[in-house]
Amino acid sequence: MQKYYKIVTFGCQMNVHESEKIAGTLESLGYRETKDEKDADVVVFNTCCVRGSAEQKALGNIGALKPIKKQKKDMIIAVCGCMTQEAKMAEYVYKTFPFVNIVFGTHNSYRFKEYLLEVLEKKKRVFKVVDDEQKLPIEVESFRTSGHNAWVNIMYGCNNFCTYCIVPFVRGREKSRPMEEIVAECKKLVEEGYKEITLLGQNVNSYGNTFKNGKNNFAELLKEIDNLEGEFVLKFLTSHPKDLSEEVVKVIAESKHISHMIHLPVQCGSDKILKLMNRNYTVEHYLKTIDMIKSYIPDVNLSTDIIVGFPGETEEDFESTLELIKKVRYNTLFGFIYSKRTGTPAEKMENQVPMTIKKERVNKLLALQREIEKEKFQEFLGKTIKVLMIDRKHDKVFGKTDCGINVIINGVEEFKVDFVNVKINDIKNTKLIGEIVDE
Ligand code: SAH
Ligand code: SF4
Ligand code: F3S
Repeated sequence: MQKYYKIVTFGCQMNVHESEKIAGTLESLGYRETKDEKDADVVVFNTCCVRGSAEQKALGNIGALKPIKKQKKDMIIAVCGCMTQEAKMAEYVYKTFPFVNIVFGTHNSYRFKEYLLEVLEKKKRVFKVVDDEQKLPIEVESFRTSGHNAWVNIMYGCNNFCTYCIVPFVRGREKSRPMEEIVAECKKLVEEGYKEITLLGQNVNSYGNTFKNGKNNFAELLKEIDNLEGEFVLKFLTSHPKDLSEEVVKVIAESKHISHMIHLPVQCGSDKILKLMNRNYTVEHYLKTIDMIKSYIPDVNLSTDIIVGFPGETEEDFESTLELIKKVRYNTLFGFIYSKRTGTPAEKMENQVPMTIKKERVNKLLALQREIEKEKFQEFLGKTIKVLMIDRKHDKVFGKTDCGINVIINGVEEFKVDFVNVKINDIKNTKLIGEIVDE
C-alpha cells in the first residue's frame, strides 16, 4: 500500500532546502507527498529558532498533532532543525510530546534515513542531538519542490557571532563545500531545465575562507557558475556587509547570468548599536559599500533586514535607522522585532526595550518602507523588462523579474516556464502588470 509523508518547514531558505533533502530520502524509500497530515504515515517538523515566535509556532504545530496520532497510532512523527539542535529545546520536545518518535538536530540531519529505519524496525523512540562535527555533512539527494528555482548549499554554519543571533550556536562553524562539487551540481541543474539557481550560505562572502590552499573564493565560484552554458539566473543569499568585496560586485556587473538583486542586511543605522551587535562595520562603511555597488550596477535591486528594539536602542538610534533607509531606498525590507535568545550575549545586556515600543518602531519602519516601495514601483512604468513566466491560473500568467518582483503578464499565447520580454503598463498593489513584447 502506498505510504505518504508531510514535511512542515519553518525558518529560512536553508531549512526549505534541507526539507527537500528529507523529502529526497522519503521518496527514495517509496513514500509520496501528501498535503494533509491526516493521510501521512510520516510527518516531519523542520524547525527554526531565530526568534521566539518561530519556536512557539513549531511547538503549537507539534502539539496539534496529538489527537491525530491518537487515531493513527502507526504515524511516525519527527522533529528536527535548528530548534532541536539546542539541547534544552530538544529535551523539552522529547519530554513534552511523548508521541514524537524521532528528535534530531542540524548537524546529523543527513542521517534521517537511519533514524527512520530504526523506529520502523525496533519500534523505539530515537533521540539524536550531536555536537558540531567540524566536517561537511554528506550531501543527500534532494526532492526539489521549489518549482523553477533550485537551492544549492555552498557552505554551512557561521563564524560571525552577531550578539543577538542563535544561528552560530545551532549551525556550527563555517564550512565550505568544494568548488568543483558545487559547479557540477549547478551544471546538472541547468541541464535538467532549472531557470533559477540560488546559492545558500549564512555569509556567502566568506566562502572558501576555510580552504587550506587559500584559493577558491566567492568571486571565483560565481565566475565558474556564470560560465555554464544555458539560460538561467543565478542568485545568492546572504551577504554580510563587512565582507562583500568590490571583486564580487565586479563579477556580478560583468556576468551573463547573475541577478542584480543583492540582499545586504544592515540590521540598524546607529554605530553604537552596530557595535553592540558585533556587526563589524559602521554606517559610513555600509553606505560606501552601497555607493560602490551602485557605481558598478546602476540597476541594482537592494534588500535588507532590520532588527528594531535591540537592547539599548534609543529613539535617536531608531531615527538613525529610518534615516539610513531613506538614503538607501531598498526595494525590499524585512523588519524584525528583537527577540531575546538564550545563550547569546545580547540576552544579558542592559536596557532591554519594552514590547510596546518595539511594536511601535516596527510599524513605523514598515510604513516608511511601504512608501518607498510605492515610489520605486512607479519607475517600472513604460519599461520593458525580462520576466520569467512561472505559473498560469485560468487566463492569467504569473511571472517574476530577475529581482523577484511579481508580474502579471497579458498576451501570452503559449505558456511554459521561460523568459519573455514584458512592457510594464500598470501597477496593482505589489504586482507589476504588462504585455508580452518581442525583443
Ligand atoms: N546569515 C544571515 C541570516 C541570519 S537570520 C544574515 O546574517 O543576514 C535572518 C535575519 O533574522 C537576520 O538578518 C536578522 O535580521 C534576524 N534575526 C536574527 N536574530 C534575531 C533575533 N534574535 N531577533 C530578531 N531578529 C533576528
Ligand atoms: Fe546570525 Fe550574524 Fe551569522 Fe547572520 S552573520 S547568521 S545574523 S551570526
Ligand atoms: Fe534558518 Fe531559523 Fe535556522 S533562520 S538557520 S532555520 S534558526
